This record gives sequence, C-alpha cells and structure tokens, in this order.
Amino acid sequence: MKDQLGRTIDYMRISVTDRCNLRCVYCMPAGGIRKIPHGDVLTFEEICRVAAAAALIGIEKIKITGGEPLVRKNIAELIRGVKQLEGIKKVTLTTNGLLFSEMAEQLAEAGLDAVNFSLDTLDADRYEAITRARALDKVLDAVDLAVRMGLPAKINCVPMKNHNLGDLTGLAGLAKERPLSVRFIEMMPIGLGRNFETVGSEFVLRRIAAAFGEPVASARAVGNGPALYYEFPGFKGSVGFISAMTGEFCGACNRVRLTSDGRLMPCLCNQKSLDLKSDLRNGLPQTELSGKMASFIAAKPRRHNLSEPKGNGAEEKHMVQIGG
Ligand code: GTP
Ligand code: 5AD
Ligand code: SF4
Repeated sequence: MKDQLGRTIDYMRISVTDRCNLRCVYCMPAGGIRKIPHGDVLTFEEICRVAAAAALIGIEKIKITGGEPLVRKNIAELIRGVKQLEGIKKVTLTTNGLLFSEMAEQLAEAGLDAVNFSLDTLDADRYEAITRARALDKVLDAVDLAVRMGLPAKINCVPMKNHNLGDLTGLAGLAKERPLSVRFIEMMPIGLGRNFETVGSEFVLRRIAAAFGEPVASARAVGNGPALYYEFPGFKGSVGFISAMTGEFCGACNRVRLTSDGRLMPCLCNQKSLDLKSDLRNGLPQTELSGKMASFIAAKPRRHNLSEPKGNGAEEKHMVQIGG
C-alpha cells in the first residue's frame, strides 16, 4: 500500500519478544527492563493473523526481531507459518547470534531467507564490555556458519567512542574474504542510546577507505532497508551505512512495526501506535483488521522525531521493546 505521502509500505518488522540473552550498554540496563507480562505477548497464531492481514494490504517482506528473537521457543515454527502466508515473499531475521548455530538448520528448513547479526567488535574483552557476556566466539561461528550454508548474511555494528572505534576496519574487513555485508548504524538517541554520542557514517567511511582504498557506491541493493552500500577493491562482500541521524532516510521509508505486545507502530521513533491485541482477542474479522491497519499506516508520520527534545512525542521506550 501507499501511505498519505505516497511512500510504498511493503515491509513489516515483527518483534516477537522483549527479552534478550545480552545486555548491550546502549540497549538494555544491566538489571534488564520491566518485562511485558507473558499474557500480553502475542501468540504465534495472533502474529500470523496480523501478518496475514498485513499481506492483504501489500506487506511482502517480514523481519523477525526482538529483543532477541531466538530466545522465543519454537521460533522456526513462526517463521514457517509466516513464510507460508499468501503474499509474503521474504522472511528475514535480526539476531545477536548466540543461539544461531544450534538452530540454523531448522531456521533454514522453515524458509528463512536471510539473517543479520549484531556485532560491534572483534575483541573478546570489548565484546564483553559492550554486551556484558563473554560470547564473541559464538557470534563469529554463527556468522561463518550462515555463510557456509549460503544464507545471505549481514553484520550490524553501532560505532561508539571509547568502545569500538578501533574495531571498525577489522569489522569491515570481514566483508573482504566473505560474501556478506558489514553495516555501520549511527547510534540513535532512543532509550540508553541517549547516553552516547552519534559517530557519523562519513567518519567511519573515511576510516575504512584509509585502510582498504576508495569505495565505489553500490548500485546493487542488498536487503530491504535504508542502508546505502559501497564496494571496496578486492572485497567479496560490501560495506553499508544506516545513517539515521546524518542522512535522514524517512522520505523513502517502506516499513511499519509490530511490537511483541501487539501494537502497530508506523514509525520507530514516534510514540503513536495502534493496539491490535484487543482486536485480535475480541475476534475482529481479518478484513476489518486489515482495514484498520491500512488507515493507521496511511497516516504514517513524515519523519522521525529523534532530534526533538525528550517529551515532545519522541519514542521513550527502549530499543529492545520495539525491535530496532
Ligand atoms: P535488511 O536490509 O532487509 O536486512 O533490513 P534492515 O536493515 O532494516 O535490518 P536490521 O533489522 O538489521 O536493521 C538494522 C537497524 O537499522 C535497525 O535495528 C535500526 O537500528 C535501523 N533501522 C531500521 N529501520 C529503521 C527505520 O525505519 N528508522 C530508523 N531510524 N532506523 C531504522
Ligand atoms: N541506535 C542504533 N542502533 C541500535 N541498535 C540497538 N540500539 C540502537 C540505537 N540506539 C541496533 C543493534 C542491532 C540492531 C537491531 O539495532 O546493534 O544491530
Ligand atoms: Fe539484546 Fe540486541 Fe539489545 Fe543487545 S542490542 S541487548 S543483543 S536486543
């Protein structure tokens, strides 16, 4: 469908849980957050009903996110269910990778089309400082397994002063020997992200160019998102940038979100949401659900309000509750 500004909306991010087995410093407080009660989390059957209603209005691509989606039991079954829906062409996953290797076979068999791994450093100690877990090897193994399986893979890194600026070229270098994309995401002032200064994409690009040579902007679109990609000489993969702060991409936004407690969010960074849980639990027929979603999505805001001061309608939830 098109929204009121003529943007084609064909992608839905579905957060299946607000729980996570890591505690990244920019996302989760060390003690965790107040969790959504189990009874308020949509069941797989309810998620599939929303996805089917979304497909009726033109959603073709689904991203499964969290928290950490792989901590939710039987997630492969949800992927299978969503993938089988009429109109859904692609189902992809964004994970921290800790549980990926043991589940990779079932995920691929269920129809998973691609996977993104969050990885901010290649140093085990720094990984522990950022995520509060000693688990770097697990993530690296998961990335290599995905590549061996031929599953299209990307790595997401959020650059942060005093944490991982020394790792940026090393991370980008993963795309030299492997056919994957390494992407750098500008820190957004959402939740704990407010405690960090955004490191701009231009800075990161310059640093990588100093190590690997001049980049060429890629004509090839990798994935469904707002990232811009570059090719470097001799690289099998590519390097991408998600410049939410310095290169606003809202004018070309193609997506909406579903939170794990069943709220439809037309924008990541705007508190407006539509509660679908009550409709689902009150048995609203599919076509009416679709219609209600379509009217709400049509009014999608023009742009994010990340630059607004707190309290001005900017999203005040933690990233882990929205799913990125
Ligand atoms: P693919 O390219 O298909 O893999 O999609 P993607 O880039 O959306 O996937 P991923 O889940 O890895 O998202 C990466 C990050 O980009 C998100 O976690 C956010 O931090 C950021 N991002 C994604 N969509 C938006 C958006 O609509 N607005 C903003 N501001 N940031 C976004
Ligand atoms: N700003 C930008 N990216 C963030 N992520 C989590 N919090 C933020 C933030 N405040 C990233 C994670 C993960 C992706 C889903 O979102 O690093 O790769
Ligand atoms: Fe978990 Fe991802 Fe948040 Fe890290 S960024 S705590 S991996 S949800």
